[in-house]
Amino acid sequence: MKIHNKEYKTIWYEENVVKIIDQTKLPHQFIIKNLKKIKDAINAIKVMEVRGAPLIGGTAAYGIALAVKENNDSEFINKSAEELIQSRPTAINLKWAVDRMMNRLSGINSDQILEIALKEAKEICDEDEKFCENIGINGLKIIEEIYNKKKDTVNILTHCNAGWLATINWGTATSPIYHAHKKGIPVHVWVDETRPRNQGANLTSFELNEEEIPNTIITDNTGGILMQRGEVDMCIVGTDRTLSNGDVCNKIGTYLKALAAYDNNVPFYVALPSSTIDWEIKKGKDIPIEERNSEELSHVYGVDENNEIKKVLIYPKNSKVKNLAFDVTPAKYVTGLITEKGISEASAEGLKKLFK
Ligand code: MRU
Repeated sequence: MKIHNKEYKTIWYEENVVKIIDQTKLPHQFIIKNLKKIKDAINAIKVMEVRGAPLIGGTAAYGIALAVKENNDSEFINKSAEELIQSRPTAINLKWAVDRMMNRLSGINSDQILEIALKEAKEICDEDEKFCENIGINGLKIIEEIYNKKKDTVNILTHCNAGWLATINWGTATSPIYHAHKKGIPVHVWVDETRPRNQGANLTSFELNEEEIPNTIITDNTGGILMQRGEVDMCIVGTDRTLSNGDVCNKIGTYLKALAAYDNNVPFYVALPSSTIDWEIKKGKDIPIEERNSEELSHVYGVDENNEIKKVLIYPKNSKVKNLAFDVTPAKYVTGLITEKGISEASAEGLKKLFK
């Protein structure tokens, strides 16, 4: 998708380095960063220069390739794989991508190992791009249906950034929106600010602006009243891990939005590629929920009059804070799962039908 009218993907390999867009600087500064070593990839995931489940997976895949390039010794590569998996615990795509890379490289000792690793990492990214495009084609039908009944702008609420910046391209939650916009269906997006890191305000609104899609940033507490007033036609969010029973783990605050949607009969959809399905864990309470540092709550970033990024404290200095990064929305509040293979009920039966 576009930034400053130029097409980009979120990650690519060029001139022997992995290139990423540093998302900690958006929307104020557009910086392309080079990842040269495995430690750069691990750091980029930890400090969230790259974030969003599918992009974390793509970065981890390229991270394994960087490890191979740095030191083609199995002990080093195994340790790197372990460190990558630990770098952010909730998004299952991370482990999925590392496992796929390690399986592909298992038993390969030839000089071609780096080439094979880079090819597999690119395939993981290309596949994600294709899956996200298909999520858009499948989700478009729901937006179209609402538009055909309403004959007016379709208002869609989204939480966090499950946009193209969170994937390789297209996004998950935003892909149906981009497809609807391209088809000429009038859409308007309510963008949850998404405290504490403001991925909605900083990233989702930014990327929708770049594609000229009308959107309005709201605080995380505003969605409820908008739904009561009939100003939300549907919600679409992404997910970091969806269980085989349809429970959805996503950015903190998703659950509250799903409850409000349920109470107001607003359809609540979750968009995801199959790499985000955890077929092993059976209960939402067993998903590891990342707890991040307190500074993400107590401090905010913004730009001053010279366009320099500044960090300021907004809480009392000694106050205690708790920063849980994700929550779990039980399947009963989810209207449907929009996947690359079609739309499924959020249930074991629904998912089994699509993914035999
Ligand atoms: O902490 P983040 O910014 O990585 O959280 C991202 C989300 O919660 C997204 O909704 C999710 O990863 C899906 S991205 C297509």
